[in-house]
Amino acid sequence: MYPSTRLRRTRQADWSRRLVQEKTLQTSDLVWSVVVSDTADPREPVAALPGVDRLSLKALAEAAKEAEALGIPAMAIFPHIDPSKKDETGSEALNADGLVPQAIKTIKDAAPNVGVICDVALDPFTTHGHDGVLDGDYVANDATVESLIEQALIQAEAGCDVVAPSDMMDGRIGAIRDALEGAGHHNTMILSYAAKYASGFYGPYRDAIGSATALKGDKKTYQMDPANAEECLREVELDIQEGADMVMVKPGLPYLDIVKTLTDTFPVPVLAFQVSGEYAMVQAAAANGWIDGDRVMLESLMSFKRAGAAAVITYFAPRAAKALNG
Ligand code: PBG
Repeated sequence: MYPSTRLRRTRQADWSRRLVQEKTLQTSDLVWSVVVSDTADPREPVAALPGVDRLSLKALAEAAKEAEALGIPAMAIFPHIDPSKKDETGSEALNADGLVPQAIKTIKDAAPNVGVICDVALDPFTTHGHDGVLDGDYVANDATVESLIEQALIQAEAGCDVVAPSDMMDGRIGAIRDALEGAGHHNTMILSYAAKYASGFYGPYRDAIGSATALKGDKKTYQMDPANAEECLREVELDIQEGADMVMVKPGLPYLDIVKTLTDTFPVPVLAFQVSGEYAMVQAAAANGWIDGDRVMLESLMSFKRAGAAAVITYFAPRAAKALNG
C-alpha cells in the first residue's frame, strides 16, 4: 500500500522506464500495405489516403528495395486495375499474367528477401465490387471458393509467399490448402483474414482500388457483424483446423479486444490490419494540427503489440520504420 508502494518510482527516469517496458515495437513487426496500379505512371496519389500513392510496377520495385533497406519483413499487395478489365465474375483475378502476378515477380526480383503477401478475393476485379461471384444479389459461397482456389494457385505459382484470403467465404482455407498441397506448394503460407468485420473503416481503400463507386450494397452477408465478439473464436478455430498458418483481425484499433481474445486463446500468430480508414483519420487530424501524427502513429502501432499481435499490416510501415530506426 501507499506510501511503501509508489508506482511512479519506476517511471521517474528514461532508463528505468525502458528497463520495465513490457512490449516493444520493431520494424520486424510491420507489413507494408501497398497499392499497385496498371495505369499509374509512375505513381498517383489516392485522395482519401494522404501520403499513399498507387504505384506502377517500376515504382513498386523501388518500394521493395526501400522495404528491404528499412528492415520491413513483408509487403502486402492490393491491386488497382483499369476499370475496363473488370467484369461480373472478376475473371482478371485468374489471369496468370495479370497485375498481381507481375507485382509479385517485381518485388521478388527487386528485393528477394522481402516476403510477399497477396489478398485472395475478387473485389478489385468485379464490376459490382463484391469479393465473390453473385447469384442474384447474394455472394455465392461455393462458386466463389472455386475462383479463390485458382486465384491463390496463380499467386503461389508467381512466387507469392503468403496467400491471404480476405473474402470471408466459408470453407475456403481448407480448399485452398488442399489445392496448394496438390500443386506442390507445400511451403506457401496461408494468412487467413479470419475475423474480418463488415466495417466502415475500409472506405479509403475502396477509393484506392477503384471499387468505391462500384460497390452495390454492403458486405454484411459474408463479413462479421461489428457487434459480435464470441463468433471470432469459431471463425479462427475453423481456419486453424483447415490449415491457416496465421490469422488476421481487421480492422485493427477498433477491434483490439478481438486481437487480445484471440492471442489469449490460440497458439497461432495473430496479425492485425490497421486499415485505410484508421490511417486516414490519423493523417487528417495531424494535417489539421490536432494531434502529433508521428507520435499517434507509433502509439497506435504499439497498442497492437500490447494486445498481443505478432505483426501489423499498415500504410504507415515505411514512415514507422524510419521513426523506429531513428
Ligand atoms: C477486400 C479487402 C478490403 C480491404 C482489404 N481487402 C475491403 C473490403 O473488404 O471491402 C481493406 C483494406 C483497407 O481498408 O485498408 N477483399
